[in-house]
Amino acid sequence: MQEKFTLPFTSDFEKDVYLGLTKFPKQLSSKYFYDAKGDRLFQEIMAMPTYYLTNCEFEILENHKSEICNYFKNGTESFDLIELGAGDGKKTKILLENLVRIQARFTYLPIDISTNALEKLKISLKEELPELKVDPIQGTYFESIKTLCRTTKRKKILLFLGSNIGNLLHPQAIEFLKGIRDLMNEEDLFFVGFDQKKHPKTVLDAYNDHEGVTEKFNKNLLVRINEELDANFVLDKFIHWEVYDPESGTAKSYLVSTEEQNVTIDKLDLNVSFKAWETIHTEISQKYDSEIVDWLCQKAGLEVLQEFEDPKKMYKNYILKRATK
Ligand code: AVI
Repeated sequence: MQEKFTLPFTSDFEKDVYLGLTKFPKQLSSKYFYDAKGDRLFQEIMAMPTYYLTNCEFEILENHKSEICNYFKNGTESFDLIELGAGDGKKTKILLENLVRIQARFTYLPIDISTNALEKLKISLKEELPELKVDPIQGTYFESIKTLCRTTKRKKILLFLGSNIGNLLHPQAIEFLKGIRDLMNEEDLFFVGFDQKKHPKTVLDAYNDHEGVTEKFNKNLLVRINEELDANFVLDKFIHWEVYDPESGTAKSYLVSTEEQNVTIDKLDLNVSFKAWETIHTEISQKYDSEIVDWLCQKAGLEVLQEFEDPKKMYKNYILKRATK
């Protein structure tokens, strides 16, 4: 029997870059934006007024913190507040402060892949909310929650802010939500942000700032390939391009090659040729309406308990629970 030839990849990054740049059309995953430099660029993006998502979610949390925290606290002695992809915790602190103020008995468990981000978060929380119990978990979401479930039976409140779900295509989002549902008990809640459909220009502007920060963020993928896989991408030979389809609600980011060129990636022993104006698709940022959210939830066996909207009606946070039917 002929043995199947497998390339000796030493990481998922190597494998995904190889597969993504040898297929047509070319594609790279947005999950690789986030190294230390990518994290900093994303912080910069979140601080820009054109990137309205941050402010909208901030306003929702600020305006509805009492009601939201009551949902978390009600019907239970104590609970675990588990945040998926905590980052700098800036928005979460609104809820944490309020929960501490109303003397809720809970532990905050931020999960993040980055030890560095968790360490910073822990230090800032110790200063700002010394009475808060914090127990950071370094790891991937599902593995971390599974491990946690083995050691505690307390009510779980899961947080997934920032419309991070929007970086998944619908089938992947359904799988993700199903995975979450399977980890939830009847009384557990899932608090999640979904960026809503709106004026197409507003969406485009959020991913197309004039300062070029989003462009740098997108091109950070090429920088990482250059640095980590010994490649020779010339950044100026690619442009950042954003499109938004108001029908599907999908914003898509591309890197477009401005000329015919060859790139070598030494660590992968790979030569990649680009035609002039050939694309690499790098990210989707899905926008939703409540029908789509209901549909995703129904597919995943979840149901909406309550929704909260910002005053400009651009963004929503939903409280989800396991569906009873
Ligand atoms: C993390 N994620 C929800 C952001 C978004 O809006 O898709 C990432 C981002 N990409 C470009 N700007 C921000």
